[in-house]
Amino acid sequence: MYRPEPSSRTSPTKRNDLAPGTRSRFYLWHAPLFSPKVFVVPTFPVASTGTASRTLQNQLSKRSDDLDAAYCRVRELSESLCETLQPEDCVVQTVPEVSPTKWHLAHTSWFFETFVVKEALSDYTPINPQYACLFNSYYNAAGKMHCRPKRGLISRPTLSETLEYRHKVDALMEGILENEDLLEQFAPAIVLGINHEQQHQELMLTDIKHVFSENPLRPIFRERAETMGSTVPPLGWVPFQAGVYQIGHAGEGFFYDNEEPRHRQFVEDFHLASRLVTNGEYIEFIEDGGYHRPEFWLSLGWYTVGEQRWEAPLYWEGGDGNWSIFTLNGLRELDKNEPVCHVSYFEADAFARWAGARLPTEFEWEVAAADLPYAGNFVDKESFHPRPLDDIAGVQAPAQMFGDVWEWTSSSYSPYPAYAPAAGALGEYNGKFMCNQYVLRGGSCATSQSHIRKTYRNFFPPNARWQFMGIRLAKGVA
Ligand SMILES: [Fe+2]
Repeated sequence: MYRPEPSSRTSPTKRNDLAPGTRSRFYLWHAPLFSPKVFVVPTFPVASTGTASRTLQNQLSKRSDDLDAAYCRVRELSESLCETLQPEDCVVQTVPEVSPTKWHLAHTSWFFETFVVKEALSDYTPINPQYACLFNSYYNAAGKMHCRPKRGLISRPTLSETLEYRHKVDALMEGILENEDLLEQFAPAIVLGINHEQQHQELMLTDIKHVFSENPLRPIFRERAETMGSTVPPLGWVPFQAGVYQIGHAGEGFFYDNEEPRHRQFVEDFHLASRLVTNGEYIEFIEDGGYHRPEFWLSLGWYTVGEQRWEAPLYWEGGDGNWSIFTLNGLRELDKNEPVCHVSYFEADAFARWAGARLPTEFEWEVAAADLPYAGNFVDKESFHPRPLDDIAGVQAPAQMFGDVWEWTSSSYSPYPAYAPAAGALGEYNGKFMCNQYVLRGGSCATSQSHIRKTYRNFFPPNARWQFMGIRLAKGVA
């Protein structure tokens, strides 16, 4: 994942050999290995004597318990998301950007093995040296990597062997999590690994959805009762005043480096839509010839529509007033009241032009979200699909800002002023992707609620559609 600073280990490290799936303690120690530049976790006051020492000890113990619990939760969720899958489901790769479930399970383990376990244990022998290349994603500084479009050709290790690999890594991590000295040094990497795995949990869901959509049998990921929304409140406009706002992360808690530095940003008066665009509204765009009228499209978007022969969002079928949609709950009738989903930036932008509006900038979105609670349809609710908005109390605040669908913004994914990625592999996490992508905000029905932040900047190329991506409109004040 990222390359630690050069190590200056001066003490030997001892570890126990582990049987697969066992959880053991280790006795080890080592020198600090890297600077926590990309992510930040809360720090604890340093105390040295008497009551203060006991307080520090209690804080460290609590921190260990918290991290241990968070680690176990995220690792267990990854495997529980797979509980309805068969081994054959877990090896398919439909397109280069879709990775097999098995690869996600292995890659997230590779992260912890590479950036925590290997660095903590000076005499560490890799579980399988070939995994270093096989399950590296894109970190040049971490060594060679397997060809991404060929991940679906990796029939070995088997799913069973991959799970065994995960459990071996878990056993090694357990020892580190129970060692307060190591915890102090590796907490930033462990917290990053937990957040990294949450990102891959979302990808596991969107990727298996694409895999199942290509299967004529249309497998169902999770059985869910079909709930069609009855009505949706009319779209209103929430005003926001012009001003110089602080944008970016501040305070404690984990965040990615692309969310800083916090900086000033001038925002003009604007209005933000009170809710997300619905399927029904998007059908109006389609029926008005939206996909066949170049005046609504960016040049590259119009080219892409022609090349890809887009006529509707991804996973829509039918047409002529009889639309169906493929979901993780199976193929079913399209609910016009649900937020439209699986649209590209090009489609979101074209719809906004057709509607006489525009997409918000990421700064406008962050300003609008500043005082809102983190409530929404996240993966924790296990609906695995965006839901219709039941009701809103007037239009004092935008609804559906969190969860349901990632909201395209008109902002190119670029560095904030004075942003500087860390050296080595650590800096490859976000910084090297700041070209030809757009920012999305707010999380989706596949995002863990604990993963999202108001300053969180997701990013994808403008033609990407397989994530849970939707539309919120904005407009200026004349
Ligand atoms: Fe990754």
